[in-house]
Amino acid sequence: MGWFSADIATMDDLFLHTLQDIYYAEHQIEKALPDMIEKASDSELKKGFQTHLKQTKGQIKRLEQAFKKLKQQPSGTKCPAIDGIIDEANDIASDVSDKIVLNAALIGAAQAVEHYEITRYGTLVAWAKALGRADVARLFAANLKEEKATDKKLNGIAKRKVNRKAVARKAKPMSRREQEAIMAASVGVPAV
Ligand SMILES: [Fe+2]
Ligand SMILES: [Fe+2]
Repeated sequence: MGWFSADIATMDDLFLHTLQDIYYAEHQIEKALPDMIEKASDSELKKGFQTHLKQTKGQIKRLEQAFKKLKQQPSGTKCPAIDGIIDEANDIASDVSDKIVLNAALIGAAQAVEHYEITRYGTLVAWAKALGRADVARLFAANLKEEKATDKKLNGIAKRKVNRKAVARKAKPMSRREQEAIMAASVGVPAV
């Protein structure tokens, strides 16, 4: 459905469309998190992802309550934005070979997801209030609070240790064997 198709005529339609968008996004995030849990080698980061997977399941339940309050069947609408963010996260996670640098990459990718969710829930809270649905706004506000707390927690893990450890990997000196291999390649002599 295009943004300005006849399917979205009123603010109620736009509101429902955005609820369906985040409902789809939360399901994609629920599917993506187990892989991130598996790839994280920092124990605090791994635990953080595990906690957020549990929270995500609870957030989906809150969204289902919102659909119920609005007398709508829970359903998702394809969200190319979250698909793109998750695709990029998967690409970067498979491209980074150093597991310490990978922790920094996973945090960066996860924060892109959190920021997307923060913007969506911020909008939904404002629109629910404007439409006189403070009851539904409260459900979105609870999800928004968890997304913001997760973003803050990820920031803390990155700044306290993960970034520093990842940068230190870059500074690791080359072994003599690696230096010899580079020298040999530059003069066309096979390394021994
Ligand atoms: Fe979420
Ligand atoms: Fe989240």
